[in-house]
Amino acid sequence: MIIDVKGLVKNYGTFQAVKGIEFQVQKGEIFGLLGPNGAGKTTTLEMLVGLRKPDGGTAEIEGKDVVRDIKKVKEKIGVQLQSTTLFELLTVEEILHMYASFYPSHISIPELIEDMLLTEKTKSRVKGLSGGQKQRLAIALALVHDPSVVFLDEPTTGLDPQARRTLWDIVLRLKEKGKTIVLTTHYMDEAHVLCDRIAIMDQGTLIALDTPNELVKSLHSQSAVEFKLLQGDASFDFAQVEGVSKVDTRKDVHVLYSNHLQTTLTSLIQMASENQLELTELQTRTSTLEDVFIHMTGRSLREA
Ligand SMILES: Nc1ncnc2c1ncn2[C@@H]1O[C@H](COP(=O)(O)OP(=O)(O)OP(=O)(O)O)[C@@H](O)[C@H]1O
Ligand SMILES: [Mg+2]
Repeated sequence: MIIDVKGLVKNYGTFQAVKGIEFQVQKGEIFGLLGPNGAGKTTTLEMLVGLRKPDGGTAEIEGKDVVRDIKKVKEKIGVQLQSTTLFELLTVEEILHMYASFYPSHISIPELIEDMLLTEKTKSRVKGLSGGQKQRLAIALALVHDPSVVFLDEPTTGLDPQARRTLWDIVLRLKEKGKTIVLTTHYMDEAHVLCDRIAIMDQGTLIALDTPNELVKSLHSQSAVEFKLLQGDASFDFAQVEGVSKVDTRKDVHVLYSNHLQTTLTSLIQMASENQLELTELQTRTSTLEDVFIHMTGRSLREA
């Protein structure tokens, strides 16, 4: 175990943003904190890296307490925060050398630049970089002193799909190099692709913690059938449809969860015609982490 968090609490005035959470991270894992806006992900990360003092509980990284031994902890960790301000007028190379000078030793800057796919931008000023390039530079800065644990706070928020994919590759390569990675995200697809284990966070607590596959399995419903009603009684009780384990209706979209896709589809179509319901935009898909979150909270990750 490389990170050990016990009963961690953070209060902002009378508001409790983190309500006594517990988790352990194993060496070499990519561990995800997945949750909607305001869940307490950043607050948790900030406590782990010594930027905020916990109001309760403890956290240790490689056996060192993040409050008492923060100096030692900082030698072992690299941090990329949600809102990193970079020195806009420096070049990629200059800013990396500047950061490197803060540490007694550092890794090869050209190699780091190459690993972060920034070679062509070595001599470009930060202000001219794209969003994805800036984000990769922020990660490079977190890596200059060769930390064993890397914290990434929403590394891909605001990036276009292609830039997100590039960043996923970079994170996976860090894992291959033996780094332990803790990242936050509110993208369930990202959490699924990247993370060995995921803690789902909501309103300051961890409501589930497991591998992505086990989390989805915990739904006991492999498939989701989604549709809208073009005509008919919107209050129709779709739980009557055969094989349905749960019905979720938000706005005008109905979702039926089932382990027996074919039975459920057949029964749905039959019931629809018997009850003068006209279905539209009918589609089936495999259940996702988003569905897990909806099951547990009654809200979706995005609307929350
Ligand atoms: N400095 C602060 N003072 C008061 N309340 C705060 C402060 N920082 C965060 N909060 C509140 O604490 C809660 C958790 O915030 P936090 O930033 O940790 O959430 P998050 O999960 O990182 O959300 P996001 O996905 O939007 O980044 C939110 O309700 C937020 O409004
Ligand atoms: Mg945040």
